[in-house]
Amino acid sequence: MKTNDFETMYVAGLQEAEALAVTVADGLTELYPQADDPELRETLRAHAIDARENAVRLKSLLNCHGRLLDTDVDGSVDALFALARHAMTTTARGPLRDMALISLVQRIEHHEIAIYGTLAAYAKILGRQDEKVALGAILEEDRATDEDLTAIATRLAQPFPRVSLERSLSVAAA
Ligand SMILES: [Fe+2]
Repeated sequence: MKTNDFETMYVAGLQEAEALAVTVADGLTELYPQADDPELRETLRAHAIDARENAVRLKSLLNCHGRLLDTDVDGSVDALFALARHAMTTTARGPLRDMALISLVQRIEHHEIAIYGTLAAYAKILGRQDEKVALGAILEEDRATDEDLTAIATRLAQPFPRVSLERSLSVAAA
């Protein structure tokens, strides 16, 4: 697609974001049962529902614009979900594996934050106030989830430096 106007670029971004939201919803739905920590499991489960609802919100925004025939497909999140699946098979179940999962889901969230931040800014420039508000709400959900994941990872990581230190000391004493 060769775009020569701003509104078309914005609509192409909405289409990409809608497809991405479906990918995120599917990926999180697959991964959340594998989280060991109950709070992490619930956070990921709830965010999978958010992503599914966001795909519907984006679809309704697109209904106001009409669809473009040909837009890019954002495959970056597919690659990150592949890494997350791999981490689930290469890391022992427990806090460490949950931390690996959080790290990868946060990469996905940061990607979404960049996308929704840009689209909300575009909607504002285009004078589409309702769409700016809807995109801003999605952006805030992603930011809140990112913060929740940081808090869970920080809690899960607490024992590790001490365990590593004790292990080092016991090796040194042997
Ligand atoms: Fe998200």
